[in-house]
Amino acid sequence: MTDRTFTIAAIPADGVGKEVVAAGRRVLDTLAAQSENGFAFEWTEFPYGCGYYEQTGKMMADDGLEQLKSFDAIYFGAVGWRNVPDHISLWGLRLNITQNFDQWANVRPVTFLPGVVSPLRKADDTELDWVVIRENSEGEYAGLGGRNLSARGPGNEVALQTALFTDKGCERIMRFAFDMARTRTVKKVTSVTKSNAQQFGMVLWDEVFERVAKDYPDVESDSVLVDAMSAKFVLHPEDLSVVVASNLNADILSDLGSALAGSLGIASSANLNPERRFPSMFEPVHGSAPDIAGQGISNPIGAIASGALMLDHFGLHDEARRVEAAIESTTAAGILTRDIGGSSSTDEVTEAIIAALTRSLTSA
Ligand code: NAI
Ligand code: MG
Repeated sequence: MTDRTFTIAAIPADGVGKEVVAAGRRVLDTLAAQSENGFAFEWTEFPYGCGYYEQTGKMMADDGLEQLKSFDAIYFGAVGWRNVPDHISLWGLRLNITQNFDQWANVRPVTFLPGVVSPLRKADDTELDWVVIRENSEGEYAGLGGRNLSARGPGNEVALQTALFTDKGCERIMRFAFDMARTRTVKKVTSVTKSNAQQFGMVLWDEVFERVAKDYPDVESDSVLVDAMSAKFVLHPEDLSVVVASNLNADILSDLGSALAGSLGIASSANLNPERRFPSMFEPVHGSAPDIAGQGISNPIGAIASGALMLDHFGLHDEARRVEAAIESTTAAGILTRDIGGSSSTDEVTEAIIAALTRSLTSA
């Protein structure tokens, strides 16, 4: 037995989720083997996803959450396939987990990798990296609303999709962002708002931000409207360090950030329950990519970098940095999948990252 065994529930789910979770597991198991009994992972794979739905009519077992609850963490691929409407598959599995396990903080780093050509010209001569902190439990994805009046006949149905902003929900994600800013070289938090148009929820968001910022006099703060922020991502990304935003705004901005860094395929994410009452969940930002699934060409870096975020969550910070360094030396050597301009397969990139981990061990 090792000193520390982490129990991980793997949910590869659909499409490229299966390929990239397999790649990430290989990297994490390599690290565990190299720790010489320092730590180990005990994996349990769950078959949940659209294939499971095909057989059972459900996205996960009725007692699925109960089963997942006892794990130290969840390692997730991506959910969504042609046989199930996206709002059913997403709410049935991923949002079911993030909501019920109160994973209220979603950490999404935007990382620029050597050897990956960014569409952002600044990335060639300016050092850039920032992190999007997404409020992950309320806002526009609170699931509140309904559809009604269809009995009035065709064309008369109405739908309400209500955003929820609570003082407590805003405060906890903003404190999380400021605490993270304190650990970074550039100690700054930028809040993303739309209070000019959304005069209730977003005005509360702004007021809480101003209040919380006062408790962090050592951290710079500012507030930017979401439309202006999308332009800032492209034109002045050097101004960014920690970006805190509501559920929908951060969802959109983090995809923009990963596209600027080169591809959705390299973006990682952690869905955290910071109080650790429930397991947290680590997953690439991308979806199931049906257009390339099954061809062995998906980029495993998003999933592998999410594995590094999981290592950080377990306090294995040196190991997390080693994974990141192995990713960087692989991209710098030009071993790239097609989405970032190369021709290597998922396996080739994974093996190169594992080889880099082994090299870093022998040269240490
Ligand atoms: P997507 O992220 O699956 O794909 C968008 C584009 O990025 C595609 O061109 C795809 O080929 C590319 N891409 C994605 N991952 C890649 C990787 N690892 N390597 C190389 N290229 C990659 O988003 P899309 O097409 O909008 O959605 C497909 C399905 O995924 C839908 O059912 C959607 O609901 C679901 N989805 C699930 C998410 C999750 O589980 N967290 C997140 C986003 C979408
Ligand atoms: Mg998204």
